[in-house]
Amino acid sequence: MIKRLLVFVPLLLGASEDFITHDEYGQMLYTNPRGVSCSQCHGDKGEGRVIVTFKDVDGKKKVIKGSDIRQENLSAMISSVNSYHKIMPRYYLTDEEVKAIYDYLQKKNEKYLAKFKESGSSK
Ligand code: HEC
Repeated sequence: MIKRLLVFVPLLLGASEDFITHDEYGQMLYTNPRGVSCSQCHGDKGEGRVIVTFKDVDGKKKVIKGSDIRQENLSAMISSVNSYHKIMPRYYLTDEEVKAIYDYLQKKNEKYLAKFKESGSSK
């Protein structure tokens, strides 16, 4: 049993490097691009999430949120990722890499986005 496993492990490791789909590549970049994950601030699907809550000097509750980026188009996403923001780090990702993230989010949110397409076409 153990002998069998030992034979399989290197095969599996090799396979995961060689056969990575466009979708997996997008997921990898979205969840761990250059060490700072988009999902940490924008949620698993790009729906946005609370990054931190705190009380300001007057004791008022403050919330910092990563925005909902599910409806962001590709060119807006490319320019956002490549520019400076107050909270979001600037990434040096190529257009191809941002496209992989974009495609990944489009696919993950297929159902959610379809709702908007339907209501848009009923004009
Ligand atoms: C540290 C938290 C953080 C991380 C990590 C992060 N973002 Fe953001 N992002 C934000 C916040 C907050 C905004 C809203 C604008 C601002 O204040 O920076 C934003 C804005 C954006 C926007 C523009 C939409 C808008 O509401 O203005 C896009 C597109 C975007 N992020 C995509 C990404 C992608 C893709 C990644 C990963 C490569 C990423 N972000 C990583 C926090 C983050």
